[in-house]
Amino acid sequence: MTDPAALRQSYAKGRLDETEVADTWLGQLQGWFAEAVADPAIVEANAVQLATADATGRPDVRTVLAKAIDERGVVFYTNHDSAKGRDLATNPRAALVFAWLAQERQVRLAGAVEQVTRAETDAYFATRPRESQLGAWASPQSQVVTSRAALEAAEADAARRFADAPVPAPPHWGGFLLVPDSVEFWQGRRGRLHDRVRYRRAGDEWAVERLAP
Ligand SMILES: Cc1cc2nc3c(=O)[nH]c(=O)nc-3n(C[C@H](O)[C@H](O)[C@H](O)COP(=O)(O)O)c2cc1C
Repeated sequence: MTDPAALRQSYAKGRLDETEVADTWLGQLQGWFAEAVADPAIVEANAVQLATADATGRPDVRTVLAKAIDERGVVFYTNHDSAKGRDLATNPRAALVFAWLAQERQVRLAGAVEQVTRAETDAYFATRPRESQLGAWASPQSQVVTSRAALEAAEADAARRFADAPVPAPPHWGGFLLVPDSVEFWQGRRGRLHDRVRYRRAGDEWAVERLAP
């Protein structure tokens, strides 16, 4: 078996200094996001790993796509009845990480989660390809299904139901906004002395701090 302990990279692609970062977490994130999108070595630059926990504290994590990054925080879309949707209904806090490993970078955000407005969900849903819109109706996300054929039959049902009409967003599907109270930027450095700079909400202000790697 391939031994993971034998895998070792040293990191030397960049540096990050708390005196040189952008004034706001958003400015810093927008800069890094633009660099990730422009880098052909990075696929799905807007993919994030989203961690939630249920009411008992049992954690779970999965990948979703960030669909808005703005002064409010980060928006992603999902099925509200999914495992993550149920976690967020009972415990509306989450953390997510952008892992841009080809640039030896990660960005972690943590904070409270709220639903975006129906209008925002509807506006985003309308931009999705029709096949994805039908999929949202057909998939009881996170539930056990009998077969792939059953899912495809549900998709065909949805296609018949909406025929040539526009497909609206299902009521159980929508956006969540993570409102960060902490945003940490990590840049790999030599000798595992990595750079970590965290923006931490402190009342109405944001503190910018270097963390030990
Ligand atoms: C690259 C990638 C992007 C994904 N994007 C989304 C997404 O935006 N929304 C979503 O609900 N699931 C997305 N998924 C699927 C989730 O990782 C997960 O399988 C699904 O949401 C069910 O998670 P849950 O059972 O924990 O709720 C994506 C998976 C991958 C690998």
